[in-house]
Amino acid sequence: MHGAVSDKSDTKTESSAVPGDSSDTTRYDFMVVSNRLPVDRCAPGEPGDDGSGWRRSPGGLVTALAPMMTRTDGAWVGWHGAADETVEPFSHGGMDLVPVQLSSDDVELYYEGFSNATLWPLYHDVIAPPEFHRTWWDAYRTVNRRFADAVVRTADEGATVWVQDYQLQLVPRMLRQARPDLKIGFFNHIPFPPPEIFAQLPWRQAIIDGLLGADLVGFQRSSDAGNFMRSARRFLGASVKQQQVHVKDTEGDLTHIARAQAFPISIDVQHITELARKPEIIERARQIRQDLGNPKTILLGVDRLDYTKGIGHRLKAYEELLNEGHLKVGDATLIQVASPSRERVEQYRLLREEVEGTVGHINGTYDTIENTAVRYLHHSYPVEEMVALYLAADVMLVTALRDGMNLVAKEYVTARTNNDGALVLSEFAGAADQLKQALLMNPHDIDGLKDAVMRAVKMSPKESARRMRAMRKQILDHDVDHWSADFLNALNEKVIRDDS
Ligand code: G6P
Repeated sequence: MHGAVSDKSDTKTESSAVPGDSSDTTRYDFMVVSNRLPVDRCAPGEPGDDGSGWRRSPGGLVTALAPMMTRTDGAWVGWHGAADETVEPFSHGGMDLVPVQLSSDDVELYYEGFSNATLWPLYHDVIAPPEFHRTWWDAYRTVNRRFADAVVRTADEGATVWVQDYQLQLVPRMLRQARPDLKIGFFNHIPFPPPEIFAQLPWRQAIIDGLLGADLVGFQRSSDAGNFMRSARRFLGASVKQQQVHVKDTEGDLTHIARAQAFPISIDVQHITELARKPEIIERARQIRQDLGNPKTILLGVDRLDYTKGIGHRLKAYEELLNEGHLKVGDATLIQVASPSRERVEQYRLLREEVEGTVGHINGTYDTIENTAVRYLHHSYPVEEMVALYLAADVMLVTALRDGMNLVAKEYVTARTNNDGALVLSEFAGAADQLKQALLMNPHDIDGLKDAVMRAVKMSPKESARRMRAMRKQILDHDVDHWSADFLNALNEKVIRDDS
């Protein structure tokens, strides 16, 4: 795949030749660091159970990086998902995993607090009000240090380290301080806000400084990279030229150049395509349609139950279309999959009550004995069932108010191997930069959203095929392997200093 990292087939290096540590531990030359490890616990007999007690998490990131983990001296550092539990390093599916422990206080203050009730809403256009608490910030720093220490202890001399996402923004700087020999990349999976909003964060300088510890800071959209560079200039007085930020020490001497650039993430195209062609999945899609009474149009929403996803806006538009008679129960059904997420965070609890209240109201008003207006499913499903849903749905609704990328949009398009179906896509999702032939709309504009839904419902097969073909080509040419290869190649490129 990549060729960006040395491709050794020998066993992991046992050495003590790493600055600052003399203990005898395994050393890695490629390390990925993310809040969560790419595995979930798995009870005996559950789907995916291989007898180890763990199964690989679904998703493109692990698919893209696992081959490199297994081919190089690679390891993944992350939390294993259980508070107050110590898990020793272990291997799973050929990947070495280095667990980081979190206490229940860490989960409350660093994960639910600073990550998901400060940074998440702040970075998503303050759709929900961010909370600023000094105790949360202290925990964020402490936990970021713990992740960095796990790398410092185990990274080989000159190793490449790739840090993922907003939970770990201080790690690049911590690594550079302790281990200037490392090549450090960071990728932000969520949006980066404009400086006018980022300005609210009491610790804005420390966050920018943390990120600037990296050699390369990747974002989903070029507007995110632009926002970051404007913040670096405004809050740290950094000199920014083109995509390069000149990073200086306290004496004002240049320490390194950090580049900021867009690398839009994608999906495992091959896997989704294979599933979409499996007879049993095609049959399951047919069964889903039949169980819903074979309506003319199935509309589908698939989201984590998160206030950034615009589920309320989608339901409002749908209800108005039913109310005005543009759509009729029996002819149309909306399937809304809302997978449980961050359930101990107040805003998520409130959202669940609101969405479930609205669904109950719509169904109470418009259901008939035979047919339902909204089939609401508060579950997570395996990827096979998701692909069957994509195949069953005539119209996919992605109405995010703000979203780093939105991989559901890319999965839907990829699954439609017959080039049929229609995608209604928010212009506030990163995917809108690549999927230009979707029906793009502003979800705050309920009339515009309704128009887009009706255009999708009535779209001719010819127009569907034209749009789908173009979008499928875009995704096929840019799958998640390309994403990781592009990032790692850029990280390993020699920086040409631009002093002009
Ligand atoms: C988003 C974030 C990820 C996060 C995921 C699930 O996609 O970018 O970093 O892992 O949501 O959220 P959770 O809080 O359950 O890890």
